[in-house]
Amino acid sequence: MAIKHLLGLQELNAEEILTILDTARTFREVLERPIKKVPALRGVTICNAFFEPSTRTRVSFELAEKRLSADMVNFSASNSSVTKGETLRDTIQNIEAMKLDIVVVRHSSAGVPTYLAKHLAARIVNAGDGQHEHPTQALLDLYTIREKKGRIAGLKVAIVGDIAHSRVARSDIWGLTKLGAEVTVVAPRTLVPLEIERMGVKVATSLEEGIRGADVINVLRLQLERQAGGFLPSLREYRMTFGLEPGGLGPATPDVLIMHPGPINRGVEIHPDLADGPHSVILEQVTNGVAIRMAVLYLVSGGTPPEPMVEGNVLMTAHPAGR
Ligand code: CP
Repeated sequence: MAIKHLLGLQELNAEEILTILDTARTFREVLERPIKKVPALRGVTICNAFFEPSTRTRVSFELAEKRLSADMVNFSASNSSVTKGETLRDTIQNIEAMKLDIVVVRHSSAGVPTYLAKHLAARIVNAGDGQHEHPTQALLDLYTIREKKGRIAGLKVAIVGDIAHSRVARSDIWGLTKLGAEVTVVAPRTLVPLEIERMGVKVATSLEEGIRGADVINVLRLQLERQAGGFLPSLREYRMTFGLEPGGLGPATPDVLIMHPGPINRGVEIHPDLADGPHSVILEQVTNGVAIRMAVLYLVSGGTPPEPMVEGNVLMTAHPAGR
């Protein structure tokens, strides 16, 4: 498989998505070793360019790069010359002039990773762009579901929350439907984008109806910073009608998985007892995210998908490009 950039899951087919998941499984095994490091990206230089706040994605990419022995630098807009008016293109071109191989970018505007891929020689990995896509989050969600349930095809997945403003929802929908899951989005009408059914999902405007028979419930953060637009009467009403509460899982399957991409608004979209309870795989998602990001970086830098779980395979040797 040759993927030059990772801009979104809309552009990948099922086979490419599965190749990333299989590659991540090998790296996941590396993360269980006493020495969690392989030389696969030795000599490859990566810049993490974050123009928007992040905890999980940023730390996860940084760890993935260190585990792969890449050279990495961090750039954050808030303490850069962006604050003096430098444009995005000038900023990134200057960074690239320092001979970078891969740029991992998060930006509040949709389309920034695609723009950079057109204008730069470096490989681009989207770490979340506006309300468009967050492909590595969706990949780690798919990985976690497959690991826990043994498959994705045929599963019923409910995505509950602020679908309209969520790049995670969009990437999850592309990935889940391409791999054969049945997806229902669950939200008040004001938080469901128009014509979302064209993405191959069902829409439910009642939580009880939306999670009926669900194998997985993926709860999304209510994007409080965007609620000024009057999408909801009140947070209290949202919590009472769409918040996941203990005792509210009845309509779902008994072994339903509860997922959340984070950050969580505890007590708003999900009760703390469920976020920390036996159905929750929220922290396992975070752990798997490192392996997913290792796989993505390895593959976009031209690495060959390994045979999964084979000791002594290509991941144990230096990157073939030898840069
Ligand atoms: N899930 C996620 O993207 O979290 P961060 O915003 O903390 O990176």
